[in-house]
This record gives sequence, structure tokens and C-alpha cells, in this order.
Amino acid sequence: MRLITVPEVDSTNEYLKRVPFESHLFVRAEAQTAGRGRRGKSWLSLKGKGIYLSGMFPALKAELVSVAGLAFGVAVVRALRTLSDAFYLKWPNDVHINCKKVAGVLPENTSDRLVVGVGVNISYGPEELSAFEYPATSLLAEGIDCDTESLTTALVNEISAYYLRLTAGDFSVKEFEDYCPMLGKEVVVLKGALRVRGRVLGVDAQGYLIVEGESGLMRLHHGDVSVRLKSCGS
Ligand code: BTN
Repeated sequence: MRLITVPEVDSTNEYLKRVPFESHLFVRAEAQTAGRGRRGKSWLSLKGKGIYLSGMFPALKAELVSVAGLAFGVAVVRALRTLSDAFYLKWPNDVHINCKKVAGVLPENTSDRLVVGVGVNISYGPEELSAFEYPATSLLAEGIDCDTESLTTALVNEISAYYLRLTAGDFSVKEFEDYCPMLGKEVVVLKGALRVRGRVLGVDAQGYLIVEGESGLMRLHHGDVSVRLKSCGS
């Protein structure tokens, strides 16, 4: 395992796709000029205000790709729980606290490597956070003190450990469910202009969210929908 720090890159995920393959190489940037989030969104990456970190591993077999996002979500929430037990997962792998997103994971499997990117909002203030299209927060805004070096080390260790567990067949979605309080809860599923109400039944072995809607069961893929918890005010 090796961690390098660079002052600024376009995106730490893109950086690790360009360099020669090195298993368990991590890169952390102080700022990103083109940070990317899931579903084609950008990821705010101002200097010193967040952790922008990616790790590189051998490519995953196709059958593991759909659950990989859940496994790395568990890795990230476990690292954040070294600071507070209030962090939890929102399917598929957003880390939330008090109904607001504080961290996200972007795993990308190419033909020759897996790159796992993690962004954690550390010290963004209310003005920056209000510009997000979803409720967002930072550790500072939640009053949580953080030593970014220790948190980065915890992230690197957990992500490496969960890569090994995933590829050894030692990860089950049950573990994801243990960190995800959505089970049994009322949700609103958003797909384009469509809004459907339902209740979360669980996550299946392929990582799809199973929701009981007004007109039957829905099996949701994370790339297609966004899910809001009614208890968070949706
Ligand atoms: C999400 O949308 O929830 C995923 C956000 C992932 C952001 C991180 S920051 C480090 C790495 N580099 C990127 O461009 N994206 C990921």
C-alpha cells in the first residue's frame, strides 16, 4: 500500500487511470479542478476543504461490480465512524449524517484496473453547502472535529480491507444493511420526472434496492434512480 499527495489534479480517479498500474496505490489531492460524482455530476473540490482520495486495485470480475459500490460505502462509513456513530449509509453508497450527505464513493472498473474514489466534505461552510442540489453538509458544519491525516489513513485501510474481502467472497449485502437505516422506511423514488412512493424491503445479492410500491415490487439499479427518505422531509 502506498499513498501519495499531489497539490492539484483534474480528478484523483482520472489520475489513477493514467499512471502505470500499481495495486493498492492511493492518491490524495489537496484540490481537484474536475472532481466527478456519480451519475455524471461534478464534485466540489476546493483546496483544503475536503478529502479527495482514490485507490487503485486489480480489476473486478463482472459479477462483483454491482455490489462493489455497497462494499466501499461500508468501508467509508466505518472510517467515518471513528469520529462519530451518527454517520450512516444511504443506498447505494452515500454517507449521511442528520439527513444530509457528507461523503460519496465513485468506484470505476476498467478493463485493467479498479479505481475507487472517495470525497468527504470537511470544512465547507453554509454558503457553499447551500449550492448543492441535495441537502449536503460537512464535518465542520456538524461540529465534528477531524484530524484529516488520521481520517485519510482510516479510509485507506478500510478501502483496502474491503477490496480484499470483496474479492475473497467475504462481503455480504447484510453488512451494508447493518449501516443503512432505510430498511422498512417510506421512500420516494425519483426517476426522471417520475415520483413513486414505496417502502424499502431490502437490498438483494446484486446490490439492487427492493422497494414495495403502490403497484408492486420495484428492483432499482443505482444508476437509474434517486431515492429520498420520507423521514428526511421528502
Ligand atoms: C458521489 O457522487 O457521491 C461520488 C463522489 C466521489 C468524489 C470523489 S473525490 C475523489 C475522487 N475523484 C473524483 O473525481 N471523484 C471521486
